[in-house]
Order: sequence, then structure tokens, then C-alpha cells
Amino acid sequence: MAMIDDLRRIEEEAAKGISCAPTLEELERIRVRVTGKKGSLTGVLRQMGQLSKDERPQVGKLANEVRSHVEAALDAKRAELAAAALDARIAADSVDVTLPGRRPTVGTQHLISQIVEEMEEIFCGLGYDVMDGPYVETTYYNFTALNAPEDHPSRSARDTFYVVDNAPEGKEACVQGESDVLLRTQTSGVQVHAMEAQKPPIYMICPGTVFRPDTADANHLPQFTQIEGLVIDEGITFGDLKGTLDYFTKAMFGKDRATRYRPHFFPFTEPSCEIDVSCGVCHGKGCRFCKNTGWLEILGCGMVDPNVLEMSGIDSERYTGFAFGIGAERVAALRYDLPDLRMLVTGDMRFLNQF
Ligand code: DAH
Repeated sequence: MAMIDDLRRIEEEAAKGISCAPTLEELERIRVRVTGKKGSLTGVLRQMGQLSKDERPQVGKLANEVRSHVEAALDAKRAELAAAALDARIAADSVDVTLPGRRPTVGTQHLISQIVEEMEEIFCGLGYDVMDGPYVETTYYNFTALNAPEDHPSRSARDTFYVVDNAPEGKEACVQGESDVLLRTQTSGVQVHAMEAQKPPIYMICPGTVFRPDTADANHLPQFTQIEGLVIDEGITFGDLKGTLDYFTKAMFGKDRATRYRPHFFPFTEPSCEIDVSCGVCHGKGCRFCKNTGWLEILGCGMVDPNVLEMSGIDSERYTGFAFGIGAERVAALRYDLPDLRMLVTGDMRFLNQF
């Protein structure tokens, strides 16, 4: 009978469609197509009126069976797809607690801070105090009290950043009380603050930032770090200066680096000298890094000029002393053979992370 064949075909096709329906939406479409108001099964049942009395129960029974099979298959598939969707959601949301965590990047101290701290440790080990001083200074502390003559070129606006011009009309603004205000060009002014604040013996260092109107290039930075040192006591000689700074350079650069003392001039020390260490790249033979001299300059130093002592109220007949100034960026460059000081300030983590 044609209708029985139709019913079997409808059941078979529905079963096939249901078993491979990938989504709940597709399943719903099949339900509408088969058992919906205009569905294929409903269509067959509508034609039941055309059948003879004998055929009707037989076809009716089969139609009911087909309907219940299709509905059961739809229910089963619906449950299966819902369970799979839930599983997928759980899997997507799941947290694998056995995975190692992502470590936050741990910051380190900047190389310059490390070097400053290392120097502080070396000098604290020798009994020195660590002092602090102001970035914004007056001409008096930065120059005058350090014995710099009124016409010293370092006072010019080409070498110093001035903040406030306090000069009375027609007068140089360099005496205490009517000083110009500037960004300190050196930490040497802290020597004067130290001598004003305490009586000898003084053994101190002062690390800090200094400023100069220089264009940044491989060897210059407009802002850098100096470490100032000052010793004032009875009976201090050039031998003490040499012993102390030799000890420092060996501690900082290693025992195999040689030092040499070159006469120099600073307004606040007499005699004055600069200290060079042997080049770490060529070990004194001469190379590009040391401009073929075999030596690299690291610091300025000297015996404190009696004028400087007297200006700060220290009896220069009773006390003598020595002072020194070291550039931290320079120490970094010499220790790690850095070709360009700007590497220290551009914040390139690939470079900084090496230290
Ligand atoms: N202030 C000097 C400079 O900036 C460095 C210096 C040299 C400091 C000799 C000193 C010293 O205390 O005695 O070039």
C-alpha cells in the first residue's frame, strides 16, 4: 500500500536526519518538517479519509507508531545535543589548576642605582656617612663657596641651567643671600652644606643627580649622577687620598685594573688630579674604547683648598682634607664597556635586563 510505504519512508528519513543533526536548531527544523502542522507525517494522516474501512486501523496504528518513534528519537537527540553543549561550555570555562601560573615580571634596580648602592657600601665600609643635598642650589653653594672665581666659565648660562636670576642690577649674583638659583651642575656644593652642618672630623659621600646644558651624545648626558666625597680631619694628607681612592677603584673595577693620577685643576682643590683606570677592553694596549691611550678617566679629586675650608668656617691651620667626584654613568660605561651613555637612559629593557 502506498501510504504504508510513505510512512516507512518518512520514519526512515526522519531517523537518518535526527541521528546526524549537528545542532538543536537543525533538530527543531526536522521536527517541524515531519510532525509539524504542515509536516510530512501530518500530511499522510490527513489523507486517511481516502482509505477503506479495513485499511484505516492498520495505517492509523502504523502512523501512531511512526509518530512516537520520531518523537522519541527527537527527545533522545535533543538530550544528547544539550548534554554536548553543556560539556562544551564547561570545557571552555574550565580552569586547569595544574597549569603553572604566569609569573609577573619582577623589576630590578636600574644599573645606575646598583652602582650608587655599591659605592655607598664601599665607603660606608670605610666609616663614611651618606649625605643628601638639594637639586636646586644657589650660585653660592654651587660655585662661590667652592672657590670658583666670579668669571669662571662654568658659571655661564651655557654651562649651567639657571632657574631664578636674583642678581641686583649691575652686580654678580654670587654672594650668599643674593645668589642666583640654579640646577646644580655638580654635587660638590654638598661639601659646603656638610662643613656648615657639622664640625670635623667629616667623612661623607653624597650621591645625586646633576644637570648641565649639554646635548646628549655617546659621552654626555644633560642629567647624570655624581658621587661626591669629602674627608676633613687633622693630619689628612695626599697619601690618604691616594690610599682611599686606590682601594675604591680596586673594589669597583677589580684588582687587575691599574690606576694613574694625572695633575688637573679644580677651583676647590689644590693640588688637584684626575684618576684614570686601565682600559678594560684592551688592558692598557690601546683600542677604540680608550681612544688608543690605554686609560679611561674615572674621577676628579684633590686636597681641599684652604680657602674652601675657611669660607665654611673650618680652621685650615688645624684641619686638612681631600675631596673627590665620580660620575656613576661613567663608572657603568667603564665597567661594562658601554659604547654610549644614552643606553642608560632610554629605558630599553633588552639592555637593562642584562644587569
Ligand atoms: N665637581 C667635579 C666635576 O663635576 C668633580 C670633582 C672633582 C669633585 C674634584 C670633587 C673634586 O670633589 O675634589 O667635574
